[in-house]
Amino acid sequence: MKIGVVGATGEVGRTFLKLFEEYKMLNEITELRLFASERSKGQKVKVGSDEIIVEELKERNMTERFDYLFFSAGSDVSKIYAPLAQNADNTVIDNSSQFRMYNNVPLVVPEINGDLLKGYKGIIANPNCSTIQMVLALNGINQKLGIEEIVVSTYQAVSGAGNKGITELLNQEKGINSVNHFPKVIKNNVIPIIGSDLDNSFTFEEEKMIKETRKIFSNNEIRIFPTTVRVPVLYGHSESILVKTKIDAEKDEIINLIKITPNVEYTDEKLTPLEVAGTDTTFVSRVRKPQEKTFLMWVVADNIRVGAATNAIRILKKHKELNKK
Ligand SMILES: NC(=O)c1ccc[n+]([C@@H]2O[C@H](COP(=O)([O-])OP(=O)(O)OC[C@H]3O[C@@H](n4cnc5c(N)ncnc54)[C@H](OP(=O)(O)O)[C@@H]3O)[C@@H](O)[C@H]2O)c1
Repeated sequence: MKIGVVGATGEVGRTFLKLFEEYKMLNEITELRLFASERSKGQKVKVGSDEIIVEELKERNMTERFDYLFFSAGSDVSKIYAPLAQNADNTVIDNSSQFRMYNNVPLVVPEINGDLLKGYKGIIANPNCSTIQMVLALNGINQKLGIEEIVVSTYQAVSGAGNKGITELLNQEKGINSVNHFPKVIKNNVIPIIGSDLDNSFTFEEEKMIKETRKIFSNNEIRIFPTTVRVPVLYGHSESILVKTKIDAEKDEIINLIKITPNVEYTDEKLTPLEVAGTDTTFVSRVRKPQEKTFLMWVVADNIRVGAATNAIRILKKHKELNKK
């Protein structure tokens, strides 16, 4: 299998490389190519027992044949290079938001709508990190009871903003108080806005949660009200979710429905991001039923893994399985 990773030096890109090793995929990978910007050209990266040299991304690279190409270099890069790769008959798994809402591009969380990958070739979009863990937690409830409304507040780690986000928090913790990436100081703070403000009073990040959830659940009627918040945590996004269902159920039934989705666990432990960082599971706890057809829960997952790299690798595996590659 020939694999390419575009954005290989980033938070998500480096996690792909770690996961290839952890998932014992390196035996199947006959050629692994790593691409990044000019800044990283020539950098040596250890993958398993090999050292791979990072290449500067060029248009001509994307016209080569790959079995799978992972993109995690931001929307501007995906916009230009992913269509080139697609035109060269490649299957691209894109982590940026660039193609997520295109009608002809599947937006995939394999445990929920992986069947869309059967017979499909081209660009496959990986959803936003906050969306992925929310839909995984709510999938069973949506399937069996139907969802009318979701009110969600997120507590998002700085790594959600990539290398720059982590560096900004670490610098501020060392006493370098420059604010470059986030709109306010993040050390010892909570910033109640992620992404640019849109006309409808939601931010771009919040709009992603609204539109992507509707697309993944194939239901444009679901009312979704997110507030996305940045917190001084390195890895792991948390979400407080209120969900209103069409059909009523007891709390125990809700817990059973949460557990029917693969890679989702219910726990009585009140898990924190620090405890789930480095795992590939979405953890749900604190399920409550304050009134009929209304449920509350706490959902935590590793944003770089569950919310990006792991989901993308699960897409590859599902695509391969369904298309017998
Ligand atoms: N972090 C998350 O939790 C998360 C979750 C879901 C989706 N995503 C998405 O995944 C993508 C990457 O995120 P990240 O957190 O890994 O970001 P990051 O840490 O900032 O890494 C960005 C990567 O893109 C490369 N890059 C930037 N400009 C480029 C260019 N012009 N040509 C080629 N490569 C270029 C960088 O290379 P250099 O090192 O050479 O600069 C680096 O490898 C983004 O679209 C993001 O929205 C991130």
